[in-house]
Formats: sequence, C-alpha cells, structure tokens
Amino acid sequence: MFYGAAKAAVKVRLGLYDEMTTLAAKYKSDKGVTIFPFHGYSVHYEMLFERLRDRAINMLEIGLARRTDRRSLGIGCPSLSMWLDYFPKANVFGFDIDDFSWVDLPRTQIVRGDQGNSDDLRKLVAKCPRFDIIIDDGSHASYDQQVTLKTLFPHLASSGLYVIEDLRWQPDDLEASLPPTRKTRDLLKDRSALDELISDVKEVRFFASGTRKTSDGLGVIVKR
Ligand SMILES: C[S@@+](CC[C@H](N)C(=O)[O-])C[C@H]1O[C@@H](n2cnc3c(N)ncnc32)[C@H](O)[C@@H]1O
Repeated sequence: MFYGAAKAAVKVRLGLYDEMTTLAAKYKSDKGVTIFPFHGYSVHYEMLFERLRDRAINMLEIGLARRTDRRSLGIGCPSLSMWLDYFPKANVFGFDIDDFSWVDLPRTQIVRGDQGNSDDLRKLVAKCPRFDIIIDDGSHASYDQQVTLKTLFPHLASSGLYVIEDLRWQPDDLEASLPPTRKTRDLLKDRSALDELISDVKEVRFFASGTRKTSDGLGVIVKR
C-alpha cells in the first residue's frame, strides 16, 4: 500500500494527475492519493466539480480535519484549503463539532455544532440559505448523516451536488450510541425510502473509494 502511495506521489510530481488530485497532495488531504488512507475521491471531484470551478459558488463541508492531522501535518484544514485553491471565487463554509475558531482562511466561515442536531445545522442556513455543493465528511455515523441530509438538502441549489464520504465506514461505538438507523449507503440505494426523507432528487451516483476498493464508498445525490 505504501509503495503504491510513493508511486502516486511521484506521478503527482510529474503532473500526471488531474488538478484536484495535485491540490490534495499539496494540502496533504486524504481525499487524494498521497495521504493515508488514500481515498482517491479527488479524481471523482475533478470530474464532478469542474463545471463549477470559475463560479462564485457556496460550498459547505461538514467535518474539517482529522484530530491527528491538526497537529502532525502541521496544517489546519487540508480540504478547506484545497477547495479555496480549486474554486477561486467560492464562498466556503465549514461546520464541525470541535472548535475551529483559530482557523484563518480567506472567503471562509466556520460554524461550530453537532451534525446530528438540526438546530445546530440551522445556524449554517442562517448564514447561507443556498449551497451549490455540500460534502459530509463529519462523524460518518448513519444517524448523523441522515439528520444532516434531511435538514440541509432543502438548502441545496437546483442541479447542486450533495456528497457523502466513506459510506462503507461507520464508527461502531458511535453508531451504537445513537438512535438505530439503517446504513446511509442502503438508504441511498432505496429510492422510495430516500424520497420519503428528501424531495427533488434527480439521481444518486456512487463512486469508488481507493482504499476500500468498493464501488460505493462515495455517494453523490444530484438535485433536480
Ligand atoms: C474525517 S475528519 C474530516 C477531514 C477533512 N474533511 C479532510 O478532508 O481533511 C472528521 C471531522 O468531523 C468532525 N466531527 C465528528 N463528529 C461530528 C459531529 N457530530 N458534528 C460535526 N462534526 C463532527 C471531527 O471533529 C473531524 O474534524
């Protein structure tokens, strides 16, 4: 696995990857191919987000930095820095249960709260009622993912993209401590159940996670 990462790092340096993946390496984001666990979502993001690149979009990410990364990598929020670089005109919003008030990034507003609490999520909507892209990379617990989806999907713009990362990894202890909820990847594959939770879904797409080699590690809900 680490031989593969070293090879990927060389390919990034040689300019053989797309721009999003190159930025993931620059900002040490595990959404790329050089930082463990090498999710490789950046390749999908390049394909999905390229059309929005030069627009003044509103973008939201839930979950801002792995606790280990905050110190060991010596940088604040790898993915927020990557979005800011990729989307030069975007307004970027971040949401996290931990305190990120120390983060000082341009065009960025961070709200603190629990994604399993819809009142906390509404603090985001008070700051920005329409998002073009929402990425859920927060607790990864099914209950939290679905409270967030139900609360924020109505605030996604038409043709907007709602992304949920790591559909194949839920933290067992957190999952057990929250109200019992079916796995989000199963919900996303059950169109009638999904339509009961949210409306105006155009389509749901799944993409591979490089680490897990499954075809449904990443879910993208496209709004009508
Ligand atoms: C995997 S990390 C995010 C990584 C970051 N997006 C990146 O690409 O580098 C998960 C983040 O979710 C946050 N988090 C965990 N539980 C949460 C919750 N219930 N509500 C909001 N954020 C939560 C954690 O504090 C952590 O910052």
